[in-house]
Amino acid sequence: MKTRITELFGIEHPIIQGGMHYVGFAELAAAVSNAGGLGIITGLTQKTPEDLDAEIKKCKALTDKPFGVNLTFLPVLTAPDYPGYVRVIIENGVKAVETAGNNPQSVLPYLKDAGIKVIHKCTSVRHALKAQAIGCDAVSVDGFECGGHPGEDDVPNMILLPRAADELDIPFVASGGQADARSLVASLAMGADGINMGTRFIATKEAPVHEHVKQAIVAASELDTRLVMRPLRNTERVLTNEAVEKLLVIEKEKGKDLQFTDIIEQVAGVYPRIMMEGDMDAGAWSCGMVAGLIHDIPTCKELIDRIMSEAEQIIRGRLEGFLAA
Ligand SMILES: Cc1cc2nc3c(=O)[nH]c(=O)nc-3n(C[C@H](O)[C@H](O)[C@H](O)COP(=O)(O)O)c2cc1C
Repeated sequence: MKTRITELFGIEHPIIQGGMHYVGFAELAAAVSNAGGLGIITGLTQKTPEDLDAEIKKCKALTDKPFGVNLTFLPVLTAPDYPGYVRVIIENGVKAVETAGNNPQSVLPYLKDAGIKVIHKCTSVRHALKAQAIGCDAVSVDGFECGGHPGEDDVPNMILLPRAADELDIPFVASGGQADARSLVASLAMGADGINMGTRFIATKEAPVHEHVKQAIVAASELDTRLVMRPLRNTERVLTNEAVEKLLVIEKEKGKDLQFTDIIEQVAGVYPRIMMEGDMDAGAWSCGMVAGLIHDIPTCKELIDRIMSEAEQIIRGRLEGFLAA
């Protein structure tokens, strides 16, 4: 399948693995890229630019296909060393960067000068238009159903994707709720040039996370996610667990007076315990409603091959069949 996204990134299939904290290590990114998609290393999971340098080199040893690095701009007081991360990305000849969070304008000129393709992940048409205006090559449009931060507008992909298609000139991928061939074909029908998947890629053989995390996703239904940190305007969709239910009680009690410090125990620094040690009640971790569509733990190649072959069956068999000869 050839789309503006496969052309832009030089990949075989229009499928991207979104950056994921403590999931997007070299092993997963390389597996996705080797399977013909675009794998992404999560920059900020690497504590320093030197660590990211080593992770990129590890990925290069595992694949000769294009892969990318995610740079997330967080609402924090002391910013990470973004110039340092950008430097190692450029020095290593990385082909693609996925930016997310705040406006990536401060790093964009450096990335563009180095010939790197930039895809910005955003949750609204106005932010997508802004990304286009400042020179991003593509956007990843994250609907309300997505795992992680869906923004504060609550517009699901059934509306957001055609709205994006109506407004944007640059190509975009559909992100949030994407799991299978039906997701891909529907997203293409709504104007996207591919899909970005997060939660689905955690439940794969190569995702270097604890088995408990994969099993939790397979066991979850579409009813098992919760929105946390809404009063802080930093909404995150997470899988429910003991810590999340406790967090929601605190949010209810504090109401509009809620401070980040009230819920620090449930959200700060919990990812290593969850993803590495498999301590599933350690805190809140991002997970999409799409968990309800995930029932197995294939390899990345099995997953991507299945999506592409079933997409062809849907297009040629089901959709064409509706048309009168
Ligand atoms: C565990 C987890 C961690 C994530 N961490 C990040 C992150 O650090 N930076 C980022 O830009 N997006 C992050 N995301 C969002 C994903 O890249 C992707 O946009 C999202 O998962 C898409 O929705 P889906 O889960 O329904 O596929 C994370 C998602 C998950 C599930």
